[in-house]
Amino acid sequence: MSQARILLFDSGMGGLTVARAVARQLPDAHLVYAADNAGFPYGAWKEEDLVARILDVIGALIEKVEPHVVVIACNTASTIALAQVREAYKLPFVGTVPAIKPAAAQTKSGIIGVLATPGTVSREYTHALIHTYAYHCKVFLHGAKRLAEIAENKLKGRSVDLDELRREIAPVFRKREGRNTDVVVLGCTHYPLLVEEIAQVAPWPVTYLDPAPAIARRVADVIDETPRPEALGVVPAHGTVILTSPRGGASDALAAYAAMGFPLPVFMER
Ligand code: DGL
Repeated sequence: MSQARILLFDSGMGGLTVARAVARQLPDAHLVYAADNAGFPYGAWKEEDLVARILDVIGALIEKVEPHVVVIACNTASTIALAQVREAYKLPFVGTVPAIKPAAAQTKSGIIGVLATPGTVSREYTHALIHTYAYHCKVFLHGAKRLAEIAENKLKGRSVDLDELRREIAPVFRKREGRNTDVVVLGCTHYPLLVEEIAQVAPWPVTYLDPAPAIARRVADVIDETPRPEALGVVPAHGTVILTSPRGGASDALAAYAAMGFPLPVFMER
């Protein structure tokens, strides 16, 4: 069997939080990261346009990378298109969806906050997770318009505006009958990049749930169960980041990808 070839996909840099966990879990794997940065942010896209976009970009990436497993390291994409990509491409896919089940298991106050993109909070998939696993809790969902971009800016070396951050997270910190939100789900893979700053401006301490370690364990299990044929063509090297923008549209992001383990950019304009 050849080395495990794993394609990680997100709209931007958020999936790097998942890539980091996968690299720790599977240090010998061949990792290729892909960001549909020409489509970023996904949070505001219309549902049917986004599904078509994701199917198109993932199809092109699969041809190029010949992965054994694809990780959709994006809640906004997974909650809307996971079923369709599984149907369209006969490969194992691991998705990322808001960690509502573990949040319901961990909360003591029964009050959970979910920070995600406006797209993710509007999805039926997300509401079904709450209905199934957190029906006995009070769940405050907030579609944060700017958090993903603030996280990208941080990785590009810009300072984080803490007042803006405070406003973006405030809606999930609630009090009810003497009890407070005690668990906050980071329902977008970009948000763990900001967890220190979020904790700094939060009105009280809570547990923040980042699903990356659980996703990495799942990827390892799927890799174990999956045949790993040699690639037919020449595939991008380990550490490649594939971007959908023209080269000039990403120059300020390349150092951030390199610092997170993906120093080899390839442009696949879309
Ligand atoms: N990282 C993505 C997620 O997990 C989406 C960010 C965006 O494109 O708005 O939802």
